[in-house]
Amino acid sequence: MRKWIAFRGVVYDVTDCPRWLRDSRQSLHFPGQDLTSELPDAPHKEDVFTRPCIKVIGSLQE
Ligand code: HEM
Repeated sequence: MRKWIAFRGVVYDVTDCPRWLRDSRQSLHFPGQDLTSELPDAPHKEDVFTRPCIKVIGSLQE
């Protein structure tokens, strides 16, 4: 099952990313959601979205 998340109106496939492979509870990464408002709680910035393991799916339809 592919793991998609939304961030700032863009939908990303993060299935192949090391931090998303594991159980979401352990890694605090929850697929299937718009995580824009949660990034400020993360120990990293949005530059993680430039990782090669991430694929852009398209824009989030409101
Ligand atoms: C408290 C919550 C969070 C924790 C503790 C956390 C922790 C981490 C850590 C430790 C990494 C690896 C960083 C590195 O390799 O430099 C990572 C990668 C990543 N995180 Fe988070 N994160 C959190 C929330 C979020 C949120 C809210 C998003 C999305 C908006 C997000 C998206 C990502 C992405 C896309 C990656 C890169 C993929 C990867 O390297 O596997 N994270 N996160």
